[in-house]
Amino acid sequence: MQIVSSIEELRSIIKWWRGEGHSIGLVPTMGYLHEGHKSLIVKAVSENDRVVVSDFVNPTQFGPNEDLSSYPRDLSRDAALCEEAGADVVFHPEPEEMYDKGNCTFVDMDSLTKGLCGKTRPTHFRGVCTVVSKLFHIVTPDRAYFGQKDAQQLAVVRRMVRDLNFGISIVGCPIVREEDGLAMSSRNTYLSPKEREAALVLHKSLEIAEGMAKSGEQDAGKLISAIVKSIKSEPLARIDYVELVDAETLEPVKAVKAPILAAIAVYIGKTRLIDNFSFCPEAQ
Ligand code: PAF
Repeated sequence: MQIVSSIEELRSIIKWWRGEGHSIGLVPTMGYLHEGHKSLIVKAVSENDRVVVSDFVNPTQFGPNEDLSSYPRDLSRDAALCEEAGADVVFHPEPEEMYDKGNCTFVDMDSLTKGLCGKTRPTHFRGVCTVVSKLFHIVTPDRAYFGQKDAQQLAVVRRMVRDLNFGISIVGCPIVREEDGLAMSSRNTYLSPKEREAALVLHKSLEIAEGMAKSGEQDAGKLISAIVKSIKSEPLARIDYVELVDAETLEPVKAVKAPILAAIAVYIGKTRLIDNFSFCPEAQ
């Protein structure tokens, strides 16, 4: 496995692979990899001849008061995980390599990015769309792999690929959880032991609502209230949002009649965590 930091070098590897007739999978990440990322890489390895994992803390998706400088980084640990999972290249560019001096071109979207996380992170998805587009242009993958934990990001990337005719298959992969239910996230590392315990309320509250939906409850208001009540029972938790939206358009729904996404963002102390479940009434 190679660690590559220059776009030019990566492009020459891709050219070589294409010459050999290889299919290529891309797993975009911001590093500090965990089992959730590993599951994406393992899936990519099983579906493609060659796999690139990008490991880049993308500055343009962080707001001015967010955790860009403190975001955890550990390239040697990441490289070991990628190698074990079977990746061929880890792409680890410096910010100056990805964003040339004077860079002023961004990829943005009219809808899908304004609600949910977009409310408190208004420039976040512009940064995500921009960096993912750049990675797509550099790697030209056949398939790209994203986790369902970032459900809004997955919907946004799917829409962008359709709208801009990237011709890349976007593969959404299930949320990977710790044994006690906490969704894996690089930001879990910010939690103190007490906060780590409190963070379990995210999954617990979603489980309550999912159970209600499975038992036939269709009233979105009742499902939201159940989630809110459960989160409020945890003193260290502060709600950013709790929403039930259409799974594709991400528009809020009043009733569960088509595939929906129940998505939440909750501060545990200073750490903002997200989680969700998808539900399809027709599948019941
Ligand atoms: O999900 C992430 O880690 C990032 O948002 C992504 C897709 C790698 C873009 O920087």
